Amino acid sequence: MANTHQTNNELKQAIIDSKLRHIAFIMDGNGRWAQKQNKPREYGHKHGTETFKRVIEHCHDLGIKCVTVYAFSTENWKRPKKEVDSIMKLLETYLDEKYPDEACVKFIGDMTPLSDKLKKKIKKAERETEGRPLRVNIALNYGSRSEITNACNLLIQEGKTFVSEEDISSHLYTSGSPELDLIVRTGGDIRISNFLLWQAAYAEFYFTDTLWPDLTDNDINEAVASFCSRKRRFGGLDTEKSKSSNGVEQ
Ligand code: FPP
Repeated sequence: MANTHQTNNELKQAIIDSKLRHIAFIMDGNGRWAQKQNKPREYGHKHGTETFKRVIEHCHDLGIKCVTVYAFSTENWKRPKKEVDSIMKLLETYLDEKYPDEACVKFIGDMTPLSDKLKKKIKKAERETEGRPLRVNIALNYGSRSEITNACNLLIQEGKTFVSEEDISSHLYTSGSPELDLIVRTGGDIRISNFLLWQAAYAEFYFTDTLWPDLTDNDINEAVASFCSRKRRFGGLDTEKSKSSNGVEQ
């Protein structure tokens, strides 16, 4: 869909009006992007990391409060060691940079199998960036079913015999983030891949064939403009009364 908002200011106003606060990205297509240039897949992840930094910066410029990205799933361990190691290394480098200055970095997922070095860097970065205005959730060794199961087990450990939706939400890794509004998936596939299943209950979806390293600020504007043009009814009815062409409520 075309970006109908002519300027960033109009888009920013539309974001405020439509209460868009939290966008999640499935960053797909790094491998294909590299292979198209006869380069190893690791080259795609390196460029994908640059895209990630650009995307969070642009989202912050637009006034988005929270960005969640799918960096590594529980299934991604099946990839060749060289590729897995390269992704972990990129994450380490990012943790040293903690870019941009406004980012409050949180890792979501099961950190247990990570190296001690990476675990230490994650804890340090989370501590040092606490309280910054742009929440950046990085899903690492993340699987949504496992996240929900983990939340249930935590509640059992707390002695709960009856749980509410709020109990589950507050025991997910994303606790403290605003409600998820929009999921953007690059790379042409139209599926959710065990990502934020609970959180996506009322989210809007946007799919694009663009490969993640090619994603531009304008592509993000288009996804956001598409979100802003949609009517979200959350299962209810439109609350806004329809207006006639002279603005009189009907
Ligand atoms: C999916 O593309 C991408 C990944 C599994 C890894 C994404 C990781 C990064 C961009 C680096 C993360 C770093 C930070 C700092 C967040 P794919 O490899 O499955 O692509 P393909 O479908 O073309 O094979």
